[in-house]
Amino acid sequence: MTTNNGSNGINGGTGKFPPISAKLPAMMHGADYNPDQWLHDPKVLEEDIRLMKLAGCNVMSVGIFAWSALEPEEGRFEFGWLDRVLDTFADNGIYAWLATPSGARPTWMSQKYPEVLRVGANRVRNLHGLRHNHCYSSPVYREKTALMNAKLAERYGHHPAVVGWHISNEYGGECHCGYCQEAFRDWLKAKYGTLEALNLAWWAAFWSHTYTDWAQVESPAPHGETMVHGHNLDWRRFVTDRTLDFYRHEIKPLKAANPELPCTTNMMDLFYDLDYRAFADDLDVISWDAYPTWHETDSDESVASWFAFNHDLFRSLKKQPFMLMESTPSLTNWQPVSKLKRPGMHRLSSLQAVAHGADTVQYFQWRKSRGSSEKFHGAVVDHVGHEHTRVFGDVAELGRTLAGLTDLVGTPVPAEAAILFDWDNRWAVNDAQGPRNGGIHYEKTVMQHYRALWGLGVPTDIVGSGDDLGAYKLLLVPMAYLLREETGRKIERFVRDGGIAAVTYWSGIVNENDLCHLGGFPGPLRQTVGIWAEEIEGLHDGDRNSVVMAGSNPLGIEGTFEARELCELIHAETAETLAVYGGDFYAGRPALTVNRLGDGAAYYLAARIMDDVFYRAFYDKLAHEAGVRRAFGGELAPGVTAQLRSDGSVDYVFLLNFSGGEAAVGLDQADYEDAETHERVSGLLELPVNGARILKRPATRS
Ligand code: GLA
Ligand code: ZN
Repeated sequence: MTTNNGSNGINGGTGKFPPISAKLPAMMHGADYNPDQWLHDPKVLEEDIRLMKLAGCNVMSVGIFAWSALEPEEGRFEFGWLDRVLDTFADNGIYAWLATPSGARPTWMSQKYPEVLRVGANRVRNLHGLRHNHCYSSPVYREKTALMNAKLAERYGHHPAVVGWHISNEYGGECHCGYCQEAFRDWLKAKYGTLEALNLAWWAAFWSHTYTDWAQVESPAPHGETMVHGHNLDWRRFVTDRTLDFYRHEIKPLKAANPELPCTTNMMDLFYDLDYRAFADDLDVISWDAYPTWHETDSDESVASWFAFNHDLFRSLKKQPFMLMESTPSLTNWQPVSKLKRPGMHRLSSLQAVAHGADTVQYFQWRKSRGSSEKFHGAVVDHVGHEHTRVFGDVAELGRTLAGLTDLVGTPVPAEAAILFDWDNRWAVNDAQGPRNGGIHYEKTVMQHYRALWGLGVPTDIVGSGDDLGAYKLLLVPMAYLLREETGRKIERFVRDGGIAAVTYWSGIVNENDLCHLGGFPGPLRQTVGIWAEEIEGLHDGDRNSVVMAGSNPLGIEGTFEARELCELIHAETAETLAVYGGDFYAGRPALTVNRLGDGAAYYLAARIMDDVFYRAFYDKLAHEAGVRRAFGGELAPGVTAQLRSDGSVDYVFLLNFSGGEAAVGLDQADYEDAETHERVSGLLELPVNGARILKRPATRS
């Protein structure tokens, strides 16, 4: 990345992060470009350049699956076609994220070296086929990748069109071959040192699972070990580390040739199998692929808030602007039903990414493939081959909007609220056999809490246990089932220093090895929240309890809310009771409490309330008590959100209407200017269906 002054990467003088590439200090707009599918038809490249300019596209991700075209047979490299593409780009002001092609191997390689193919958990090796089907440990695959990447780096590392490296594609999956088993054992040896330590961490005395020789340890398997939670957890951590190790292996020759070129790899929404946070330090910029299923219901609120969460998550990995590496300009071809984007939605969903901190809007893909499995996936250029399509028009219109937003590049999202979300907690809470195996619904719960902040227009970071909490005033801790002692201490410090925390049921149950905290739940948080969670009950889908707000509770929230799925029976120790259960034998026992500690307060919600109205009211109060920054001071109707980017002198307020209908927003001040038209706006702002407006104002805080 380009140089900067601030410790967080922000350039003190401008209040902004430097652009992702100094070569292209503008909003990047473009698509995956696969000219290797069109080498038999040279006119296509010429026509593509004309169309790219028409669409206002300034960047392409090139050659993501081009290994066969780059090395048609072992050791014979063909770079002529790529030279022509990149040189033509350079002549026409178009830039490239140049891909390393490791996402799919050429057929000759699988035939000659079967070890490059993945082995499943059932210990059967895959045949050649598909993509993402390679072993991350295979010495041959590593050697071939290193050679290919070195050649690409040597040839294009200083090419004027190249702005950075797109490493592989959507890393994922795992391999259980002999090399990977060996690597897993080495990883465990490095972590635990002795078998005694491993046996204790995995509670191996249970069912006589004690290991007496390292050679006995292997990866989980459907016909072998599946039930040792610590084992499952360590395997998942190992798979993350193995994949990260492969990424490091890939970038080594690229960085050797030109350390200045940024590297990224495209990630997927809330992907389960890899702890993306572990990648953050090694990536120069975060990028991800977003494929929302819009228009499934009357309002897009639920889909929009899910994708908003993901945008916030990916921004929070480095706390810097990120890239929307892929999105569809119209529809996908892999969802159960592939709906077209309704008028306005292309602009709205693209600007949603920008609102949450994206400095790029990119698509899969530029030109529709003629054959094979993705031939009906949306693309900027359709099979008809010209620009006179609805989708091309939408893309070109967005291109004009993005071209006017150059000042926004690098502008931070000033979040003072955060949600704790750890991958190992996610793995552990879903793996645990506990109160509700018929749906523990961790992710849905996180989303329910997040959606309230989204609807209130509170800029929010999604943080992990390792993150510094110093910048935040409000911290949500939903279902932090796996909670380390040190995280408990960190949250306690956060509260004592004046922060407001909201912790829920089923938190502080196990430590990092998935061993239960002894001495009373929520373990490391017990003093902070001032309660003891003695028991937890799972409710059947049709069962209900209720949470009754105590009269004149300090939150000022009244009424009774339905509780479902999980009800914890807690004792208020030092905490004050704000609401009680309404039903069953635990009626009258605390269901919502607050513990005042130091300069702050910790709320504890013992039951799963389903009603969004509760969360909106609850977090409205907490946001107010914490004094967190909101994007916008006015009221927001359901399905409408406001998001904020600010460099300390200019605020950009994004008003985004996902309600499915028209919406009006009463502006909270007169000092707004439309960032696109530069007109002054005040009073009542009408947002059409799928409408999006970007308003500028002098920064309300510097
Ligand atoms: C993923 C891949 C792309 C393409 C798209 C289709 O995100 O990275 O190569 O297959 O899906 O939606
Ligand atoms: Zn392997």
